[in-house]
Amino acid sequence: MDSTAALDDVLAAAPAAIDAAATLEELDRVESGLLGKSSPVGDVRRSMGGLDPAERPIIGARLNEVTERIQGMLEKRRAALEMEREALLLEDDRIDVSLESHSFPLGALHPIQQTIDEIVDIFVGLGYRVADGPEAELGWYNFDALNTPPTHPARLESDTLYLAHGKPEDEVLLRTQTSPVQVRWMEEHQPPVYVVAPGKVYRQETTDATHLPVFHQIEGLAVDQSIQFSDLIGTLAHFSREFFGPETRVRLRPDFFPFTEPSADLSVSCFACDGGQPGCRVCGGAGWLEILGCGMVDPNVLEAAGYDPAQVSGFAFGMGAERMTMVRHGINDIRHFIDNDLRFLSQFR
Ligand code: DAH
Repeated sequence: MDSTAALDDVLAAAPAAIDAAATLEELDRVESGLLGKSSPVGDVRRSMGGLDPAERPIIGARLNEVTERIQGMLEKRRAALEMEREALLLEDDRIDVSLESHSFPLGALHPIQQTIDEIVDIFVGLGYRVADGPEAELGWYNFDALNTPPTHPARLESDTLYLAHGKPEDEVLLRTQTSPVQVRWMEEHQPPVYVVAPGKVYRQETTDATHLPVFHQIEGLAVDQSIQFSDLIGTLAHFSREFFGPETRVRLRPDFFPFTEPSADLSVSCFACDGGQPGCRVCGGAGWLEILGCGMVDPNVLEAAGYDPAQVSGFAFGMGAERMTMVRHGINDIRHFIDNDLRFLSQFR
């Protein structure tokens, strides 16, 4: 077959071959099949040197023309395939900004921690400092220094969790109250003392709607020159109004604690019914909510801590963080606090 005819054949076959290339890689293969070294066009190109000088320009011109036209076709197809590839890539990488993303729900402090923080903040606002002490405590600090005799029922194995038996100085137990922090602080600091001590306490207790073997207390202690019972009342009334609302009234009734004399319990007027509703869901109709124990620090406690009861006097109080939270939010079962049920916990964000 002569060169011109071969070139015509290639040119005629080129459009279909080029169109049939579905990818850029296929198009590269089609290109070398049409114009490459071992293609018919390549054969013609190679044969040029041996051609008759009269024929050479004619075949050469035709060769160039065919090559250029095929290259033109290839270029167009290449551009089309590149656009297709780009479009596919865009489709693949598409980010739908309207789609909901994974949501990471914002956590919150546990309601008991929120209560503790809030109560501590109120006293810090009055100039109190924050103290803490060990949860594994010596019998001495938990009981003896707090004027609680060895025969006191709270010291029984049935009430207190012991880690090591012995004399009060080396008897180790899980503290049943935050009151030992009073003594530890006084040993380390000179009066005046204004401290609050939040923390965990432990009791040998069967869990029910109002009891847990592990719960939290917030202790308070003020020792200064000539602290009086009226200071205790004023401080706790202020605290109650801050925590339960400005309309809150307070009531003190006599009670007994070994480490205070006199001792009292403090109630606040029911914020739900203000004493006006029989069967109120918060106070049950009593009109009052008992929230803490308090009293004037017993001189024996001041002495055990190394203070001179003739020089200083003080008041102390202790409240349960779980109880405060339950009273305030009308929660009827203390076990909700340890169930780890998000339906409960997420209400306290
Ligand atoms: N420690 C007492 C308890 O756990 C609470 C208490 C009462 C603390 C009177 C005090 C106080 O500081 O003065 O029941």
